[in-house]
Amino acid sequence: MSKSPPSELRSVVLGVGACLPDKTLTNADLEKMVDTSDEWIVQRSGIRERHIAGEGETTATLGAKAAERALASAGVDAQSIDLIICATSTPDYTFPASATQIQAALGIRHGVAFDLQAVCSGFVFAVATADKFLRSGSHKRALVIGSETFSRILDWQDRTTCVLFGDGAGAIVLDAQENTDGRGVLASRLRSDGRHREKLFVDGGPSSTGTVGHVRMVGKDVFRHAVGQVSDVMLGCFEDCGISAADLDWFVPHQANKRIIDASAEKLGIAPEKVVQTVQLHGNTSAASIPLALSAAVADGRIKRGDLVMIEAVGGGFTWGAAIVRW
Ligand code: UT7
Repeated sequence: MSKSPPSELRSVVLGVGACLPDKTLTNADLEKMVDTSDEWIVQRSGIRERHIAGEGETTATLGAKAAERALASAGVDAQSIDLIICATSTPDYTFPASATQIQAALGIRHGVAFDLQAVCSGFVFAVATADKFLRSGSHKRALVIGSETFSRILDWQDRTTCVLFGDGAGAIVLDAQENTDGRGVLASRLRSDGRHREKLFVDGGPSSTGTVGHVRMVGKDVFRHAVGQVSDVMLGCFEDCGISAADLDWFVPHQANKRIIDASAEKLGIAPEKVVQTVQLHGNTSAASIPLALSAAVADGRIKRGDLVMIEAVGGGFTWGAAIVRW
């Protein structure tokens, strides 16, 4: 993965939207369920509450709501979308893809919709993938969605994982444009290393156990990898754009853990006031966390048109990636 080939086309962000289930679960609620404490959860992760999908709410329904809000914020009609990519590790069904259910919910019958699975890195992978479709000229306008219902694959007896994750969805609309005034996806770098499967995985699946399974994690090893080894993709994006960390307006990393976010920003020399953090409000929502954070920062006026934004994530596999976008 390297910098954009010479092309007239760029993928410009037109809008962003999010959807969190109404139901919340606080650290105090969790104290009644497993041997944990608000103090431990806040100190180790920064998380104060997470949202949990209710009856009838699924990855596809949350994703469709986030997509509708992104379309509204972009001011474009659903019928103008010809590419839908939904990043998720918690699809409603083993198949069909949640993206096709979202496509149907939006009343779109043309174009193409598919899921992309890179766990917590899914949204970055989906942005990079959509960008390549759009810049090739094969598609014109994309919905890039991250949607997850991790509450359905948590072991609610396992305090080392169940306190960390939550449900939600976020989406952006990307438009293939010429003469963008420097706006658009400027660079993306993706990586994976499959040797680390057992550090963060789900202990079930259609082809292994025939069950859905539960999230299992060696937290310390994931933490070490997340802080120690993923700066290569961010430095690669800086190189591709000919910029340094000081040129960024906003750093919007995967929202897994406040300590990982703080340590990653410090390592790259990104000032704390440029870091968008929403993990305290929704926990780790995997592929949904970056568009949820983007949506919050656009809604409160922090991220504005023309700002230079870097997104970055690491997830099971391991997978990791980064992208730089001129908003
Ligand atoms: O998107 C990628 C997804 N994953 C992540 O980002 C997670 C990355 N890892 C982490 O965020 C951190 O490793 C954790 C937050 C999961 C854990 O923090 P830690 O500082 O690495 O703690 P630890 O795993 O070393 O556990 C410390 C202690 C242990 O007790 P002992 O062995 O020292 O007696 C754990 O059993 O904390 C205990 N512990 C808990 N205590 C209260 C583990 N979970 C809990 C809990 N409440 N929920």
